[in-house]
Amino acid sequence: MKNNLNNYLQQTKEKQEAIGHFNFATADVLRAIVEGSKEAGAKAVMVGTSEGEASFLGLKEAVALVRAIREDYNFPVFLNADHFKSFEKCKTAIDEGYDSIIIDASTLEFEENIKLTQKVLEYAKNKNPDVSIEGELGYLRGSSQVQQKIEITPEDFTKPEEAKVFVEKTGVDRLAIVFGNIHGIVTDQEEKLDINRLQQISLTIPDVFLVLHGASGLKDQDIINSINNGISNIHFNTELRVAYKESLEEALHQKPEETTPYKYLASAIRAVKELVKQKTRFFIKTQ
Ligand code: G3H
Ligand code: ZN
Repeated sequence: MKNNLNNYLQQTKEKQEAIGHFNFATADVLRAIVEGSKEAGAKAVMVGTSEGEASFLGLKEAVALVRAIREDYNFPVFLNADHFKSFEKCKTAIDEGYDSIIIDASTLEFEENIKLTQKVLEYAKNKNPDVSIEGELGYLRGSSQVQQKIEITPEDFTKPEEAKVFVEKTGVDRLAIVFGNIHGIVTDQEEKLDINRLQQISLTIPDVFLVLHGASGLKDQDIINSINNGISNIHFNTELRVAYKESLEEALHQKPEETTPYKYLASAIRAVKELVKQKTRFFIKTQ
């Protein structure tokens, strides 16, 4: 069997476990994610660059870094183009050697979303059949930062019957769904997942890998319930960003005379690694 991402996801789904997806824009955070995942006992990890993170780091650089760290650690690390919104951006990522693409056309009309997703999938699979493709359906609000409040209504949620049509027409490997999840952390509101909606979606499209985006700010039990009800891939970004920034601020404050980056960055890297480890333990069944 090929060691591609879809095969890892299939094995994970059969065990009712999940693979983690964590975002990065710098080499130190990438290393922290890989070390944390491996030490927690994950079988594989996905690392992602949003369009902004990819343009900061460079797509070629992201591919080269992931290849190097995969070899160095002898651990399956898959690079994902996270919420890429146009065919051109997705094509560039595929051509550069990304392992996975999320074509996020969820703000378009349903039929337009289908068309664009189909176009990306066809290009990707012709170029490299091992590339895993994710589509997105539903209105996933918020962004990967700390926010006060995000209005969310059941109207935003993914509709099972639409998801069925979407998956049949596009042939996506994975689907990002909305059932109460939002991107980022909210300070003045409690994030609540509608597990019943997740169950309905999961029963309607049992063969696609369902993806939970916006896991930052969710309770550990929400993560566990999601995995037990059909989620096999979980995305974290904001919590990592906050951990990194707060540790860095603390280090600079503690030793204002320190000018060596690998010294003042050490605690921030440790904080990200510990957080990844802690989250990853919820993705795996130990017994
Ligand atoms: O695609 C990225 C994730 O969905 C990040 O969400 O910032 O809420 O952890 P988060
Ligand atoms: Zn996301």
